Amino acid sequence: MQFFIDTGIIEEINQAKEWGFVDGVTTNPSLIAQTGRSQADVIKDIVKIIDGPISAEVISTDREGMIKEGAELAKIHDNVVIKLPLTEAGISACKWFSDNNIKTNVTLCFSANQALLAAKNGATYISPFVGRLDDIGVDGNGLIAEIRQVFDNYGFTTKILAASLRHADHVKQSALIGADVATMPFSVIKQLFKHPLTDIGLEKFLADHAKSNK
Ligand code: E4P
Repeated sequence: MQFFIDTGIIEEINQAKEWGFVDGVTTNPSLIAQTGRSQADVIKDIVKIIDGPISAEVISTDREGMIKEGAELAKIHDNVVIKLPLTEAGISACKWFSDNNIKTNVTLCFSANQALLAAKNGATYISPFVGRLDDIGVDGNGLIAEIRQVFDNYGFTTKILAASLRHADHVKQSALIGADVATMPFSVIKQLFKHPLTDIGLEKFLADHAKSNK
């Protein structure tokens, strides 16, 4: 399973690099807005830090605009993945990018049928939003399970990128189901390290070491 960090904040990405297990980065217009910088500038910095897939989202809502914008973003670096919304225009643009060997991440996916459309048009990644489904009382990880089954039924190679993960249990459940990638905010990655018995155990080891080395 690959881990991506869902952020545009460079300090968080530098920490992710130091941890060593973060394989890529996802951003979206809301995350870029938090940085107060242009998307192109943020992406140019990120590609220098993490050598892996970096998703950058188009703002255009029409197919031609998405293609123009995405093609410009793709010029920044080979690792840039063009993030497209799951609309008619986004799915159509996805086909253009896959025909032109440019990687895509189809985002804002909330159903297995939507995921099928992205897979049929050659999307590199499909991003089902687990937390936002949970927010409206629908089982978000249930959607990951449905997409896993559909893709396995037909051998689609589009990678399932579990997104909108809000806590460590979301990550565990998506891993158990077999998502290919989990993208997480910095705060959720920090939760993955934590177990109270680790802290208690370490405290005791250090106390015992101190006693025997007086
Ligand atoms: C994924 O690519 C999205 O940027 C992100 O996971 C959305 O998460 P949110 O629903 O917590 O905003």
